Formats: sequence, structure tokens, C-alpha cells
Amino acid sequence: MRLWIGCLVGLLFSSSLWANDAMPATPSAATADAERGRKLLIARHDTGCLLCHQAPGLKDGGEMGPSLKDVGTRLSPEQIRQRIADPRVLNPQTFMPAYFSTKGVHNVAKSFQGKTVLTEQALEDIIAYLLKNPS
Ligand code: HEC
Repeated sequence: MRLWIGCLVGLLFSSSLWANDAMPATPSAATADAERGRKLLIARHDTGCLLCHQAPGLKDGGEMGPSLKDVGTRLSPEQIRQRIADPRVLNPQTFMPAYFSTKGVHNVAKSFQGKTVLTEQALEDIIAYLLKNPS
């Protein structure tokens, strides 16, 4: 009996961890475009990714965050999506912005209320670029 409960708790715990670690593809994944993703990555004004990251095939990346050059070999597409959409689920103290979440923001300009930094399509375009261009 005790073993049975232990297994059940273990299963629930591991499945909730999995759910937090990975975000399934959105409908826009079907129309993802790696070239648009490349342009978004280098657009400091729209995304700022290169302030903190090295990225495959791109110059002038920052080094505050982990290099994204080989991210596709280390993480699944779902894990990459979760980390861009809302890295706070893995590290509540992270200073990487949550690019596809409206949770926990205060005092946002009216025109941005209820909106995410990246559109669903932009999120998928960036993932397509990172996966297509390892190192
Ligand atoms: C202000 C700095 C900053 C910016 C801007 C930023 N990140 Fe990050 N990113 C980080 C840090 C720091 C981490 C490590 C996670 C942590 O804080 O624990 C990270 C982690 C990641 C990871 C997981 C990498 C791994 O190896 O675990 C991905 C993928 C990622 N970022 C993608 C992006 C993308 C794409 C953008 C732009 C849309 C972006 N980041 C913008 C700082 C940043």
C-alpha cells in the first residue's frame, strides 16, 4: 500500500515537472519560417535576444545567458519553446523576459495590456531558426 501511494505521488510529481518544462507546439508552428526567425533574433528592438545570447550563425551576441548555438542538441523543441515563452517556470528569479506570457506584469502601457512581447508566429519562427541552425 505504501509503495503504491509512493508510486502514485512520484508519477504525479514527475508529470507536473514535465508539464512545466515543456510547452507543446502552437498552431503557428505549421507556418514557422526560419528566415523570419533569424531576422527577429537580430532585431534588438523587437526581441533583444542577442543582448544576452550567442546564437547560431549570428555575430555580436552577448554572454549573459547560455549560448544558443547548440541549444537544439541539448533541449527538445518543446523545452526551447517553454524557455522562450516563460522561463520563470524553471527559474522564478531569472532575468530573461517572458516573451509569450502576460502573467505577473504590472504597469504595462495600455496599448500592450493583454499582449505578449512576441506573437505566436514570431515565437515559432525563432524556434524554427534555432533548430535549423545548430552551432
Ligand atoms: C536579459 C537577458 C536575456 C534576454 C534578453 C534573453 N535571454 Fe534567454 N536566457 C537568459 C538567461 C540568463 C537564461 C538562463 C536561464 C536562467 O536564468 O536560469 C536564458 C535561457 C534561455 C534559453 C534556454 C537555454 C538553455 O540552454 O537552457 C533559451 C532557449 C533562451 N534563453 C532563448 C532566448 C530568446 C529566443 C530570446 C529572445 C526572444 C532570449 N532568450 C532573450 C537571458 C536572456
